[in-house]
Amino acid sequence: MAIEKVGVVGCGLMGAGIAQVCAASGYATTVMEVNDELLNRGLGRIGKQLARAVEKGKMTEADHSAIMERLHGTTTLSDLGACDVVIEAATENVETKKKIFAELDSRMPQHGIIASNTSSLTIVELAAATQRPDRIVGLHFFNPVPIMKLVEVVRTIVTSDDAYETARSFAASLGKEVVEAKDTTGFVVNRLLVPYMLDAIRCYEQGLASKEDIDRGMKLGCGYPMGPFELLDFVGLDTTLYIAEIMFDEFREPRFAPPSLLRRMVTAGHHGRKSGRGFYDYSK
Ligand code: CAA
Repeated sequence: MAIEKVGVVGCGLMGAGIAQVCAASGYATTVMEVNDELLNRGLGRIGKQLARAVEKGKMTEADHSAIMERLHGTTTLSDLGACDVVIEAATENVETKKKIFAELDSRMPQHGIIASNTSSLTIVELAAATQRPDRIVGLHFFNPVPIMKLVEVVRTIVTSDDAYETARSFAASLGKEVVEAKDTTGFVVNRLLVPYMLDAIRCYEQGLASKEDIDRGMKLGCGYPMGPFELLDFVGLDTTLYIAEIMFDEFREPRFAPPSLLRRMVTAGHHGRKSGRGFYDYSK
């Protein structure tokens, strides 16, 4: 199946990154947001990223313009009705996502594939909201999307071989490496990464070392690009808490239970980089 038109639902951090990568890989890409303000903010973020790449000499002005020409914004979900593939990167709310899936299902061509970028929900739950459960997959990207090489391609117990293979080739056509994952909460990466980050918080709570030293330890001792607290701030403490709650609900294992410090920080509005404060201070 040839993919020409791609849709992305959501133009936040992940959606904007996904739309950027799709347009940069030659696809006519339409990205949808709920209102003009959020849409313009997301498109502005993409424009800035590309302008920076031109400044660094990694891209020509002509490439920049060609990518922006392939990229269209909309606030109407039905504008994605002609797409061959739509990637949903809306907020992590299962009811919102189900509504999006049902509407896309009623508008997209029969061969169309609907993918979710969810990091914690199971894909089959979204598939069940459609009349085409065999053409629903997970395409889980990583932040920052233009830089991180991986996409987890998730097949459910009802995904067809054709839809899976098409999704896999599509992810590869974006210049990404693919890991196949089963449709289990957290897939592969978050299944391992989330307990690691939660454990780091528990170590800090128990006074094992300072957060700076825990970060330095993991960077210098293991070669990780960020320590666990830098990564928590980068991912977002609210997002981490949300994912941990879903994983704990699914597996009922203490390693997925959110530590109380994480809950307190989220309650206090310390959500990480995006709020200016998390384990570290970003206000300056
Ligand atoms: N968006 C786009 N590009 C970015 C970026 C961003 N937010 N931040 C940095 N970059 C780019 C820079 O422009 C630079 O590009 P060039 O090489 O083309 O110049 C490159 O990344 C390196 O950036 P820097 O030199 O400024 O900084 P760095 O070397 O410290 O790298 C980093 C920054 C890539 C973010 C690196 O620290 C890193 O890999 N961190 C770990 C990120 C990670 O683990 N992500 C996964 C999170 S988990 C997830 O996403 C899944 C989930 O469901 C929760």
